[in-house]
Amino acid sequence: APIEPPDLSTCHSATVDGKSVSCCPPYSSANIIDFVPPSATEALRVRKPAHKLTSEELSKFKEAIRLMKALPADDPWNFMQQATIHCTYCNGAYDQLGYDPAVTLQIHGSWLFLPWHRYYLHFWERILGKLIGDPTFTIPFWNWDTPDGMYMPEIYKDTSSPLYNANRDQNHLNAMVDYKFAYTDPIPTTPTQISEATTRNLCQINQMFKETKNSPSLFMGKAVRAGEAVPSTASGNLESLHNTFHQWTGPQQSPYYDMGSFYTAARDCIFFAHHANIDRFWDLYSGFRGYKLEFKDKDWLDSSFIFYDENRQVVKVKVKDCLKTQDLRFTYSSEKLQWKDISK
Ligand code: C2O
Repeated sequence: APIEPPDLSTCHSATVDGKSVSCCPPYSSANIIDFVPPSATEALRVRKPAHKLTSEELSKFKEAIRLMKALPADDPWNFMQQATIHCTYCNGAYDQLGYDPAVTLQIHGSWLFLPWHRYYLHFWERILGKLIGDPTFTIPFWNWDTPDGMYMPEIYKDTSSPLYNANRDQNHLNAMVDYKFAYTDPIPTTPTQISEATTRNLCQINQMFKETKNSPSLFMGKAVRAGEAVPSTASGNLESLHNTFHQWTGPQQSPYYDMGSFYTAARDCIFFAHHANIDRFWDLYSGFRGYKLEFKDKDWLDSSFIFYDENRQVVKVKVKDCLKTQDLRFTYSSEKLQWKDISK
């Protein structure tokens, strides 16, 4: 059976490094309505690379985040409330109704990873748009698959900006991301190291797409069904690559807050830029496959989640309604894919 939406009224404390924390939403008794996808006549929003925003686009984004941070702490649109959604779905605040309570709801590590995060970004983007009264507003993506984008985008590094977050690895502010990075690794610094790492990164992406073209479970993650715990081997290759950026952006010491922990990752605006690129990769992958359905399996298509939307309604969304970005009325600017024809 498909994963059912959580029963908000039974939300309980979550677990972080053995400690219990509370991250339940302030709308636990709300009336829940079925999500209706935006009308196909709504203008398509085009997400752009973070390193290419115009100053006007950047000011809008900063203003939207500033307003989101200024909302009352218990407003579901508040920046921290939005960040906390990640905790509820990742740190075990929800049980799966009618199943072993030891098996909590977890949207990482399986075929739920991409659809859940697509919706998460979708609502975050629309709420920000509402806050500044701009129905075409888009969040930027961290275009880390192009050499110019393999650094932390400048817009997140300005200490006076609402996009800034102090809890990052200070050694990585100007460093190039090496996809092979694991906590203690040195960073590429000399021109030769940088050029080698660039090529290696590009090859890795190319290889990932090639290897998984006919195997969505390898790219996106394997099945998880109602009542099942996520098997430790179910993550897709895209999710594994995605983990590197969490490690690389967050500090190298435990508890790795913010970006390096599920509990706090979405407290850093860069989280959403990173995930927009991950989401863009899913979109590219679908495109390469001619938009052939990844899993013809009702347990995937009917899996559902709950979000608080840009109209202040609590909605139940299904995986099958987010399979194409156009269905949610957004797309990604088309960037040169330098990894596409690279040969070692
Ligand atoms: Cu929900 Cu990048 O993790």
